[in-house]
Amino acid sequence: MTDNKEKTILSTRDVHLWYGKKEALHGIDLDFPEKGITALIGPSGSGKSTYLRAINRMHDLEDNVTVTGSFKFKDTDIYAPTTDTVDLRKRIGMVFQQPNPFPFSTYENVAFGLRLAGVKDKAVLDEAVEKALKQSSVWDEVKDNLHKSALGLSGGQQQRVSIARVLATSPELLLLDEPTSALDPVSSHNIEETLLKLRDDYAMIIVTHSMSQASRISDRTAFFLSGDLIEVDETKHIFLDPAKKETQDYVSGRFG
Ligand SMILES: Nc1ncnc2c1ncn2[C@@H]1O[C@H](COP(=O)(O)OP(=O)(O)OP(=O)(O)O)[C@@H](O)[C@H]1O
Ligand SMILES: [Mg+2]
Repeated sequence: MTDNKEKTILSTRDVHLWYGKKEALHGIDLDFPEKGITALIGPSGSGKSTYLRAINRMHDLEDNVTVTGSFKFKDTDIYAPTTDTVDLRKRIGMVFQQPNPFPFSTYENVAFGLRLAGVKDKAVLDEAVEKALKQSSVWDEVKDNLHKSALGLSGGQQQRVSIARVLATSPELLLLDEPTSALDPVSSHNIEETLLKLRDDYAMIIVTHSMSQASRISDRTAFFLSGDLIEVDETKHIFLDPAKKETQDYVSGRFG
């Protein structure tokens, strides 16, 4: 850990979330450092995605969801009525399990957010697209076909283009919900390498079912169970000497 990992970018306190009358999160207190990767692990249904989606107010798009608690992102109160969700989701980018390119060219996929923000200058767009595709380690594979449909790329390439699309708008935090679980091992490895390269410059929160992935790439790991945060610590502590028995049982494969 380096010093710049000590500053907090996001602090959440007493987070509760209900789907209708069903409480899915029971008071989560969790802080995230300004740089580096935090893994969220836990069995299916433990609330990992629910918590992740609460961070950039994705639940606003669903009916019947109630969120309480505080989410402080730098100086922004995420749930303040004055917080603009379009701007928030630019600052907090999200990558999903299924690569989800738009049915346009690779170039237009990556330029999308910038065009939305009103950038028209071709040289500016060209440069931003190239930079983002290089950051997501897919430039060499797509540079000769930038204006062909992104739907023609492999799943792993599409996922790296999805990451480039998010990076192009210069986010401050990246949320990744099982970004490799739909991919083959080689593509998963490429994504892991990409995330490792980005971790000195970005704060990232990744949900993963893979213990080996969490231990390979994350600095810190948070263990969720039945809508509670059981413990959070440096990844090596969570895997080698967790404080709680439930964590020990999960990381040693006794349930989940
Ligand atoms: N849209 C929804 N409506 C109602 N209940 C939901 C909804 N989404 C999730 N839940 C419930 O909330 C709980 C937490 O689900 P969540 O999807 O956050 O778990 P998860 O840890 O991401 O699981 P997985 O590892 O399977 O992705 C579960 O009981 C789930 O059934
Ligand atoms: Mg999930």
